[in-house]
Amino acid sequence: MFDDIVIPKHLAIIMDGNGRWAKKRGELRINGHKEGMLVLKRTVESCKNMGVDYLTVYAFSTENWKRPKIEVAFLLKLLKYYINSELDYLKENKVALRFIGTRQGLDKKIVSMMEMIEKETSTGTEMVFSIAFNYGGRMEIADSFKEIAKLIQDGDIQIEDINEDLISNSLYTKNIPDPELIIRTSGEFRISNFLLWQSAYSEYYISDLLWPDFNEEELIKAFKIFSTRNRRFGGI
Ligand code: FPP
Repeated sequence: MFDDIVIPKHLAIIMDGNGRWAKKRGELRINGHKEGMLVLKRTVESCKNMGVDYLTVYAFSTENWKRPKIEVAFLLKLLKYYINSELDYLKENKVALRFIGTRQGLDKKIVSMMEMIEKETSTGTEMVFSIAFNYGGRMEIADSFKEIAKLIQDGDIQIEDINEDLISNSLYTKNIPDPELIIRTSGEFRISNFLLWQSAYSEYYISDLLWPDFNEEELIKAFKIFSTRNRRFGGI
């Protein structure tokens, strides 16, 4: 069915526009997030069926703590709900879920739920699904500096050993290839501190749809456009 389109090995998505979607309907912003979660579930299913090997989505940034308390609390609650409701589906469908981001600032209950689902789904071979939660690209790079500095301090490596591979392997995304395609919804052209190091050669697809309106048809459209891109990685 998808013979004529190139499916990216690693797709990353900035799920933007939940608030605007709710506002347009005269609803509370949190309803946009709730709907966004349902769209996320369908997108995971579509990606798995289409043969995406790695899917990474941006659910909560380190900057999102600045939002009204009630919205932050709702997003944290939504994550707990998502973990509970998806555990069986992810296991049955062999999808390995992992979280990227810092666990600092998250309460113990959430961290233990994250660890539980990561462990329970770790043997999944169909797709690696990463949720960026409490994630910031700059913080990720700062954390990798710390990890590398520690290796030097302990005498495990020399300064001369620092190279691109070592840095890639010190990021939260270690063992995950760089994203080939990044989709951002809601018509915004910004990276918003997402996968800064990993996106060096990523292709972008900006969708005008608000995230709660995103669907499989739009996903296929993004893949079709990706298929026509001539990726040269700095060559000619
Ligand atoms: C950006 O839209 C979206 C977010 C900050 C949250 C994304 C969360 C989901 C899609 C739900 C799934 C979540 C979990 C926890 C599994 P926005 O609120 O910035 O929208 P706006 O730009 O229109 O205000």
